[in-house]
Amino acid sequence: MTAPTTPPHAPDAPITRPRAQVHFGVFFQGVNHTTIWSDPESGSQTDFASFERVVRTAERGLFDAFFLGEGLRLRETRGRIHDLDVVGRPDAITQLAALAAITERIGLVATQNTTYHDPADLARRLASLDVLSGGRAAWNVVTTDNAWTGENFRRGGYLDHADRYERAAAVLAVARGVWDAFPDATGGAGEGTVARVTVPGTDLRTPRDLVLDATTPRSPQGHPVIFQAGDSPQGRDFAAAHADVIFSRHGAVLADALGFAADVRRRVVAAGRPEDDVKIFPGTAIVVGDTPAEAEEKARWVRRAQVTPATALSIVGNIWGEDLSSYDPDGPLPAHDPVVAELGGERGSATTGARTHEIARQWRAVAEAENLSIRELVVRNAGERGFTGTPEAVADELTRWVRTGAVDGFNLSPWIVPSGLDDVVDRVVPALQERGAYPAAYEGGTLREHLGLRAPLTRRARDRSGVLDADSEPTPVPVP
Ligand SMILES: Cc1cc2nc3c(=O)[nH]c(=O)nc-3n(C[C@H](O)[C@H](O)[C@H](O)COP(=O)(O)O)c2cc1C
Repeated sequence: MTAPTTPPHAPDAPITRPRAQVHFGVFFQGVNHTTIWSDPESGSQTDFASFERVVRTAERGLFDAFFLGEGLRLRETRGRIHDLDVVGRPDAITQLAALAAITERIGLVATQNTTYHDPADLARRLASLDVLSGGRAAWNVVTTDNAWTGENFRRGGYLDHADRYERAAAVLAVARGVWDAFPDATGGAGEGTVARVTVPGTDLRTPRDLVLDATTPRSPQGHPVIFQAGDSPQGRDFAAAHADVIFSRHGAVLADALGFAADVRRRVVAAGRPEDDVKIFPGTAIVVGDTPAEAEEKARWVRRAQVTPATALSIVGNIWGEDLSSYDPDGPLPAHDPVVAELGGERGSATTGARTHEIARQWRAVAEAENLSIRELVVRNAGERGFTGTPEAVADELTRWVRTGAVDGFNLSPWIVPSGLDDVVDRVVPALQERGAYPAAYEGGTLREHLGLRAPLTRRARDRSGVLDADSEPTPVPVP
């Protein structure tokens, strides 16, 4: 019998997919405290050698994808640069193009927001990455939940949460227009020569059609795979209508992950798609040791190194909406309620912003029940994310998550760069393979094949088949 992982991802959920395989992506964290940059073993967050080592390890471990986030400005807290971040994050598409040259199979996922980029330009750059990598590119569509980025883009135009997903759908429709303009490989006479598509633009201020030319060929996977990250009801509906994969936040507790999966599948069916059309990859982390006790001790060390006293005060201050740097991190949480007014423009996430009182209440209840200081509470919360145990126990638990249908795979964040994936690839992957829960080799050449996705329908194929085309009629949205 294998030792249990901690925390126990408990309930007795039925196994509904007994042969399902675990899939892995790796999320190279850019700038935040998840990576312990202070550790002597840590490399540079901008040196190409760091990215190279991680991507080569991931490819050796047969990962589906290597994943990069996006930040177009340094992060801010209450109007000042967030000085706990590590400064420096190269542009994702440029970085992934370099990694495409030194890898052969692994998928390359670029996070790019739909609020600030120009859609026709973005679509062309993503398609170029897809073609040059032989069909391994993906676009993680995000809307970006902060106002400070808007000061530099859209001529200072911030978008309210309510408008962001409308614009996201319009931007994605333009991108599909760019990708679809290139002649189908299988198209018949006439259809096969289409090289120009006209679609409505995304800007009501100057309403006009966009003329999209076939400047970039189709890749072996058709066009980039679409990921989505954003957890509000609008974000989930957007994913259900348009995405191939959701990069979710629901990777801590199995019951929560099952609830999320059920909610997403309902939305996918309502959007007219088969329920398993959208794959779910939560972000998570893995810590392994030779014994359960050794793994636990290592995980405790990791969490305390991630959550320094200053980081703990900053995380709690973000929920409370005020500067708590004068508080004692080894003392209790603030006795008063969060300041809601200061959360709006700076942090545009409707979900977190609206839930600050609820989150504060939950944190206070846990801190009181378990007698935790500010830092201990944040360390405890960090401990809820991730799988800790022997390689065999972790492999059992990951397999259970996939076979109950809660997730399709995991997007792993190494806590140290560049060596943080070594244990997973050298110890957890073989344990999964022994259980028949992980492939022995890459079977396909494209990311779409790794993920088991169907081929994308081009605009013309959709027209022919009569399949519901949520993308063909983009709605222009107002620009404030
Ligand atoms: C797992 C995950 C990863 C994200 N990564 C990024 C990122 O790299 N850059 C970014 O601007 N936003 C990122 N976001 C934030 C999204 O842009 C989104 O705006 C935010 O979650 C608010 O949308 P929502 O209200 O639908 O949750 C991420 C969100 C999630 C859930």
